[in-house]
Formats: sequence, C-alpha cells, structure tokens
Amino acid sequence: MTAAPTPAPDAPFPLAPFPLDRRLSVAPMLDWTDRHYRVFARGLTRRTLLYTEMVVTGAILFGQRPRFLDYDARENPLALQLGGSDPAQLAECARIAEDWGYAEVNLNVGCPSDRVSSGRFGACLMAEPELVGDGVKAMQDACGLPVTVKHRLGIDDLDSYDHLRRFLDTVSAAGCQVFTIHARKAWLKGLSPKENREIPPLRHDVVHQVKRDYPHLDIVLNGGLKTLAECLPHLTDLQGCMIGRAAYETPYVLAEADQRIYGDSHAPVSRHDAVRLFVPYVEAQLAKGVPLHSMTRHILGIFQGLPGARAWRRHLSENAPKKGADVGVLLAALAHVPEGTYEKGVPEGTEPKDMPEGTEPKDMPEGTEPKDMPEGTYEKDVPEGTEEKGAPQA
Ligand SMILES: Cc1cc2nc3c(=O)[nH]c(=O)nc-3n(C[C@H](O)[C@H](O)[C@H](O)COP(=O)(O)O)c2cc1C
Repeated sequence: MTAAPTPAPDAPFPLAPFPLDRRLSVAPMLDWTDRHYRVFARGLTRRTLLYTEMVVTGAILFGQRPRFLDYDARENPLALQLGGSDPAQLAECARIAEDWGYAEVNLNVGCPSDRVSSGRFGACLMAEPELVGDGVKAMQDACGLPVTVKHRLGIDDLDSYDHLRRFLDTVSAAGCQVFTIHARKAWLKGLSPKENREIPPLRHDVVHQVKRDYPHLDIVLNGGLKTLAECLPHLTDLQGCMIGRAAYETPYVLAEADQRIYGDSHAPVSRHDAVRLFVPYVEAQLAKGVPLHSMTRHILGIFQGLPGARAWRRHLSENAPKKGADVGVLLAALAHVPEGTYEKGVPEGTEPKDMPEGTEPKDMPEGTEPKDMPEGTYEKDVPEGTEEKGAPQA
C-alpha cells in the first residue's frame, strides 16, 4: 500500500487518511457499522482502523456493487470484510476491494449464524482450515492489500488448542500474517449469534498464548473490550485490540484513541463537537434522500450516562423517523444536553458507568436502545446478501 500523507493535525476530518495501523480497530458489525456510523466514528478518532459490515461475495459479484462498496473518503483507513469461501470469488472480490480503495480485506471466519453456515462461510470455516488457506492465498494473489482473517477460538467440539493451532498453521502457511481473534468459541448449534457473543466464556489468555506460540504473526484481540484502558495492557504483547459493541453503544470510548493508543497530541473532540462534525455529512445525505433516522440511530449512545442523555435519545427516537425530518431535529436534540467542561475528553473516572444516576439505559424509551436494534439481523440478513432488503448498506 502506498503511504498516505499525514493530514494536518487540526483538520476536523483528515483530507488524506492515516496509514493502516491496527493497534485499535472497530469491529465489523452488520447493521451497526454502516457508512453513517463510520463517518461519525471518524469524527471521534482519525487513526482507528474501521471495518465495514460483512459483505458476502455474491453481493459484490452479482449485486449492486456501489451500494455495497461505496464509502465516504474520510472513513479511511477502512477494511472491507468479506463473507464467502469460494477462492475464485474471494479473489475477485479482493481485487475489486483494492480498486475501491480499501486498506485491507478481511475474511469472516467468526459468524456463527445458521444461515451463514449453510452458505459455507463464517465460523463453520474453522472446521476447514485448508479451504480458508486456499481463499487467503487466492485473495493475496489477486490484490496487493493485506489479507487478514477474523475468527473464533473454535467451534462446537473442535475447540481444542490443538485444533486452533492446526487452523493457524494452515492459514498462516497460505500467507495470512494477521489474525483477529474473537476470544471465545462458538456453538453453531443451539446458540443464536447474540448468545454466541455472550455465553461461551471469554479467553483472552488463549489469544496471548497464540501470540507466544506464533511470535511472527500479528495478533489482534477481540471480545469484551469496553474501554481504551482495558485495551492498553494487551498492546504490550499483541499488535492490536478490536472493540465491537462498546464502540457502538458508547461511541465516546473512541474519543481519546488517537492520543492514548497512537500518541497524537491534538485535543480529543467533545461529544457536542462530534455531533456538530457529523452535521454537514447528515445534511449532504439528507439532500440525497437518506432518511435522518438511518443516520441518527447510530449516535444515540454518544451522551450515554450524561445529564440530558435520555432527552437526547428520546428527541431523536421520536422525531428523526418522521417524514421530512431534517437536521433541525438533530440540533434540537443536541440542545437537550448541557455542554460542560466535564465532557472534554474522557478523563479517568468519568466513563459512562460513573456518571449521574437516572440517565442509564433503563430510562431509554422502549425499543430505542442501540442494543435492541440488531437482534437477529446478523443471522437474518446474511446469505442472500444480494437481495435489496437484507443487504448491508455499505
Ligand atoms: C450487531 C452485531 C453485528 C455483528 N456483525 C459482524 C460481522 O458482520 N462480521 C463479524 O466478523 N463479526 C460481527 N459481529 C461480531 C463482532 O465483530 C465482534 O466480534 C463481537 O461483537 C465481539 O466483540 P465485542 O465484545 O467487543 O462486541 C457482530 C456483532 C454485533 C453485536
């Protein structure tokens, strides 16, 4: 990849992206990390690597390609996550990803959904390391991008460390250098995707063991990380930490990433400024006919735990879905949250859990909580990824 020029430190959004650096990344999350979320996240952190939602190879090869692949330039560095297993199709998609300007292409070997498994991709591929290796090799031969794999510790009865080693041996021998490991196994039968993110125990220790056994590989830890403070100690040994749900439900956890993870010296953006930075993007999208709610639904958690957070969420949830809702709704919602010095940066001890009583999620209007939105979508929308309805809005 050609090194990108370093953007001016005071540019609200970098005009040219920072180079790919995996020390921190936001996980691919179907229905959550769409382009609107990613633009918003980029207002909080210029450096953190962002991932698309999983896009199935069929959607790229036989669907409306721009709809699945287009993104806003400011989202870079941005990695495309693919779902698929046919090496030739993966190779073609990797080549297209490079043309589209992505910084990395990642293969999903972690999604436990039934429908994904029946399409022979996702976590069930943990049982077929050779096929994953063939896919990785085909992708690498087809493009100059780094090809990475995101996977689980194991699946069903294939959950021994020996099996994990066999997977890593085979896929790394095929050329993969970077493994993002969701540090729990998945049960393909009996647990829903949501349960598979909660019930199998987290084993960060196994990921560290992998790094000790494969010191030449880049290992990124995923699973259960909620704050930068939790990530930092892992970075002593591992090459990266990937935050999923916390980066969506409480996006302000990303606000000090550039300083604390990457060592930048510019001031973190305040929550209010993060919303203001998003406003011109929202206006531009509204002008293209994108409904306000499809953008504002991703930012409900930005004031989580602060006074006024509940009124903010309620205002957006009640008004953004209305026909003709415009940016005035967003600004009116913003006015519900007092702007104070406490919200500059995220000094230790001011994380959402420590904030005033009475503003916690239990106060949110029914059905508007971010965590309630995607239930089932991960399994529901995937394999027929080429159809209009189920396709990720990448
Ligand atoms: C709503 C939702 C959608 C997800 N979609 C994907 C996906 O498209 N690809 C993928 O590899 N993982 C997906 N995941 C799993 C996350 O990438 C991540 O591995 C998991 O949430 C564990 O990280 P966390 O504990 O930090 O959330 C999804 C998770 C959620 C909550």
